[in-house]
Amino acid sequence: MDRIRIVGGNELHGIIPISGAKNAALPLMIASLLTSDTLTLENVPHLADVEQLLRILGNHGVDVSVNGRRERQEDSYSRTIHFTCRTIVDTTAPYELVSKMRASFWVIGPLLAREGHCRVSLPGGCAIGTRPVDLFLDGLTALGANLEIDSGYINATAPKGGLIGAKYTFPKVSVGATHVMMMAATLARGTTVIGNAAREPEVVDLANCLIAMGAKITGAGTSTITIEGVTTLSGARHRVLPDRIETGTYAMAVAMAGGDVVLENTDVTLLDTALETLRRAGAEISATNNGMRVRRNGAGIRPVDIVTDPFPGFPTDLQAQFMALMTRSTGVSHVTETIFENRFMHVQELARLGAKISLSGQTAKIEGVPRLKGAPVMATDLRASVSLVIAGLAAEGETMVSRVYHLDRGFERLEEKLTRCGAIVERVSE
Ligand code: EPZ
Repeated sequence: MDRIRIVGGNELHGIIPISGAKNAALPLMIASLLTSDTLTLENVPHLADVEQLLRILGNHGVDVSVNGRRERQEDSYSRTIHFTCRTIVDTTAPYELVSKMRASFWVIGPLLAREGHCRVSLPGGCAIGTRPVDLFLDGLTALGANLEIDSGYINATAPKGGLIGAKYTFPKVSVGATHVMMMAATLARGTTVIGNAAREPEVVDLANCLIAMGAKITGAGTSTITIEGVTTLSGARHRVLPDRIETGTYAMAVAMAGGDVVLENTDVTLLDTALETLRRAGAEISATNNGMRVRRNGAGIRPVDIVTDPFPGFPTDLQAQFMALMTRSTGVSHVTETIFENRFMHVQELARLGAKISLSGQTAKIEGVPRLKGAPVMATDLRASVSLVIAGLAAEGETMVSRVYHLDRGFERLEEKLTRCGAIVERVSE
């Protein structure tokens, strides 16, 4: 199994190209199930999660063609992928596939809307918490679906003539349930109004793509989304938005290691709260034509408290990385996680590098230390893993991160991007 070896101490200087967003690419790919025409997605990142979803979509009958080779664009690899689902050949999403990646459960929306029935395995728990699916089920039920749980699967059936538009307000904000209800409602009869919808940029990206496919959607990016159902959707061409979590991760890496880096092909407006927090911690951040410049010269890292929240709040997907940064701050900071109940698995691993962190319920208290010391550590989930890489960049000596497959799920060519900026980061294969 691969590991990542980091030798800390080098500042970062150079340019890092940001990839297309994993969490936008996944629902966009799933939207290809809604039409018999071709959906073309540009700027699709090359990640393990994307490859896994390609397999899942293939199982339902989506024909995938990747442009012969990866296109080298502005120093970044991105792919243009064409998805064509002339007919849905299988309406079952089996446990073996869904259990590997939670987002594959989201096929339930398009399958139900287009075919009127489907059988989708429940996703099960994951490293960051129990992550139930009640909100998905309530939303689809509001659209008239009949849902039965049978041997770990949801058997879903739409009423005769298809799903029916409805008003439904989520009791809690859910990105995935908003994606699914929005996709399902595009082909429902009548108007759907989703209340307390997720406002994440990835929801807006999916809405924009669906609109290009002929859907009638307004309000994406606000907490009320209105969808007027249409009878069919057509193909479209859409560019996946930049990955705001990858952007924030590298910004935090620069704040941690020091240096001066331009993050290209991204957009400061996608992560206002996180960047403002980083500024308060001592990083200098300025917008550029197609991205941003992040600097930290000499001065120490100031302690800043954060609380994770749905967009536009501080993203849970940057919580672990920010905690890594705070381990080197000049004082005491607090990190409170409000989205997932078990997203502190990185605490024990950061402690192995010498961090001083104590947990009380959903809040971590971090006492900054003057130095971290490299050690062998273990990745537990995607964002936790990259927090260990960030810590390793500032630790004395060698940090060896094992279970790197977590990183490969969400960070495209991480070691290459960091190495080009002067870090010592290499993949060690056994
Ligand atoms: C998306 O997950 C992201 N995944 C996650 O990124 C991200 O952490 C999360 O949104 C929050 O921003 C993708 O986009 C593929 P939620 P999702 O439904 O949609 C609870 C990463 O590292 N909930 O918004 O699954 C849930 O348990 C990943 O890239 C219910 O209670 O998250 C959680 O506490 C990890 N019932 C909260 O809502 C439900 O039916 C928010 O989850 C659904 C969710």
